[in-house]
Amino acid sequence: MKKLVVLTGAGISAESGLKTFRDSNGLWEEHRVEDVATYEAWVRNPALVLEFYNQRRKQLYEVQPNAAHIALAKLEEKFDVQVITQNVDDLHERGGSSQVMHLHGELKKVRSTADPNLVYTLDGWELKLGDKCEKGSQLRPHIVWFGEAVPLIEEAAVLSSQADIFIVIGTSLNVYPAAGLLNYVPGNTPKFLVDPNASPMPWIRNLTIVKEKAGSGVPKIVDELLQKD
Ligand code: APR
Repeated sequence: MKKLVVLTGAGISAESGLKTFRDSNGLWEEHRVEDVATYEAWVRNPALVLEFYNQRRKQLYEVQPNAAHIALAKLEEKFDVQVITQNVDDLHERGGSSQVMHLHGELKKVRSTADPNLVYTLDGWELKLGDKCEKGSQLRPHIVWFGEAVPLIEEAAVLSSQADIFIVIGTSLNVYPAAGLLNYVPGNTPKFLVDPNASPMPWIRNLTIVKEKAGSGVPKIVDELLQKD
């Protein structure tokens, strides 16, 4: 089976009703990223950070996967599909994809501030000050904040280097190290980029740019690949 690797960003979830980050004046749901999505923010005002992620988590229970998430799952009929997502939502899983790597963490999970290996799935949407891990330390969102290391990046780079087909969907490719994954994909591997605002990237070989929203562009590519290969 050919290995098909998909790298996704906020744009794939936009049509489900989740806002992208860089489309809204540098503010993310009315907050500056530095105030809610950094370790410094957590130290300064943990209640605000918890509330911000509680709202994101609550919203996640109200939205559904869209045609793009669902189409990607269909690729598994014919390909060994690995999704690498920068998104913290679970819409790929709910859309039916079975191998999903979350580079930047997962909204529905929380972890210990004393031991990063203690990760739990939260019941419901609310994490409060005073909610503790089994070792007695405060729980935090299981999110890779700006400035924090991305523990899965090396594994993602290896997967990218093994791709027979590589599809990028809905990411501004602004945030490293995730944006650098394209550089690990072999030159002769066919690559697709689905993003209505994509700019040309002449330094990437074998790249087809589809300037469409994910909900229309992804099902088209998926149908093509299922018919051809
Ligand atoms: N379909 C496809 N792409 C879309 C759509 C859509 N319907 N709507 C918007 N986009 C595109 C935008 O053109 C943009 O290129 O999605 C991209 C969103 O870019 P960003 O907001 O920068 O999101 P992303 O690339 O995922 O950000 C990376 O940065 O904020 C951090 O950790 C956060 O994982 C996130 C990372």
